[in-house]
Amino acid sequence: MSLEAIILAAGTGSRMHSSLPKSLHLLGGLPMLAHIAIAAHEVGAAKIHIVVAGDGAAVKSGLSTALGGGNNNGGGEKILAKIDWISQSKPLGTGDAARLALAAVDKSAMVLVLYGDTPLVDAATLEPLIAAQTNAQKNLLALLTAEYDNPTGLGRIVRDGAGAVMRIIEEKDADAETRKIRECNTGFIAASASLLAAALAKLDNNNAQGEFYLTDVVAHAKAAGADIVACRSAHPQRTVGVNSHAELARAERIYQFAQAEKLLADGVRLRDPARFDVRGRCRFGRDCTVDVNVILEGDVVVGARCSIGAGALIRNSRIGDDCVIEANCVIDDADIGAGCVVGPFARLRPQTRLDANARIGNFVEIKKSRIGQKSKVNHLSYVGDSEVGHAANIGAGVITCNYDGIAKHPTKIGDRVFIGSNSQLVAPLTIGDGATIGAGSTITKDVAAGALAVERAKQIGVADWTRGKDKSDTKTHSGNSGGGA
Ligand code: UD1
Ligand code: CA
Repeated sequence: MSLEAIILAAGTGSRMHSSLPKSLHLLGGLPMLAHIAIAAHEVGAAKIHIVVAGDGAAVKSGLSTALGGGNNNGGGEKILAKIDWISQSKPLGTGDAARLALAAVDKSAMVLVLYGDTPLVDAATLEPLIAAQTNAQKNLLALLTAEYDNPTGLGRIVRDGAGAVMRIIEEKDADAETRKIRECNTGFIAASASLLAAALAKLDNNNAQGEFYLTDVVAHAKAAGADIVACRSAHPQRTVGVNSHAELARAERIYQFAQAEKLLADGVRLRDPARFDVRGRCRFGRDCTVDVNVILEGDVVVGARCSIGAGALIRNSRIGDDCVIEANCVIDDADIGAGCVVGPFARLRPQTRLDANARIGNFVEIKKSRIGQKSKVNHLSYVGDSEVGHAANIGAGVITCNYDGIAKHPTKIGDRVFIGSNSQLVAPLTIGDGATIGAGSTITKDVAAGALAVERAKQIGVADWTRGKDKSDTKTHSGNSGGGA
């Protein structure tokens, strides 16, 4: 029997108070719906039917951006190829949404129903549910339940005296006694397409919300003689639903803590796993230390024996072995060679490449430039569209003037060049190997290898210079005739 997944994502999401469809809100940098589609793919769904409101244009493009274009290590394209979009014109309830999707499911398939707002679900959480269904000798309906200390808002699992599941009662339809039940419906169901179709056909909307509840399939399947198997989840945290920003923030913490625990288990020393965020994927070599409030986005690869300082934001970058990233750096789409030291407070913008043992200091911005081995840009500089050779020293406050208001121009700085502090290098410009630029120069012409270039007004000296007195001086010392000047 093939497995097909249905993901319900057509609700109004009104509790988010947002114009973004709920399923596109991000968890760990990825739309909630993408996490769920990945879980469906990982448990072996051959097709993934996603129910969206109306034409679902925003959700479709949001998901293909998140999963396409080589994201998710290229696996995203495989997932997108499995997706079949189903339109629900009115949010008549989860039962109505499931019914619409089921019409597109192979009649002989096994169906896994998932909700578009339970983004923490993973293969390990779903496997017992699928096993309960596939291992059974007969046709049954399996549902995943979870116990929560605070079950507010959730459907409750009602069992008879012998412990057999009778039905699910939504909180809004539940009396005070039923509301005390802590075993809740996660929303995940596994059943054969035929059993599900028969139960869905019997739904009505005579309930507190006037909706067709998917949850009523349990009572209908039971009445038709089917066995109901409720698997209590061993990972209740992985099944929580997100209906509001408060719940999204809680889900984010659960997700981030799980990421942090994985890294700790792999040997990364996180100074505080509660103050560390991964919004994408990251890989660390051995013996790395990560200080608090570090954020990693997209694809980040860090070599062995690196240290990442507090508050660093690193996006889509590769960092070689033995690097030190000091506090509060922003590193975006950069390649950093082994043994580099960056920051504190440095900004590496896209297409920055640091060769081994380069040093980028505080308040330095590098954009689309290559900095050669052992070269230093230590303080308060801007280097853009540049090629810097090895062992060059770029003094404090040096600026490559790469933009003339219309176009960007390159700067080439050779090996062992020394650029004095507070110099401006007006591009396009080439400075030959071993050249020296005197501090405070505005360099507009190429400098030959080995030459000294200084562009600076000559200093004059005036002996015995008397400074003028300011007016406030005159007022406070009345009677003073003043030196005047
Ligand atoms: C639902 C369950 C509840 C369960 C909880 C778990 C029902 C009736 N209730 O409640 O038993 O404990 O999830 O998180 O199923 N949707 C549609 N079309 C619709 C309505 C909803 O596609 O017409 C989608 C939503 O986008 C959402 C999912 O179905 O992704 C669940 O809907 P939601 O309104 O969030 O249900 P809950 O009240 O959370
Ligand atoms: Ca929900």
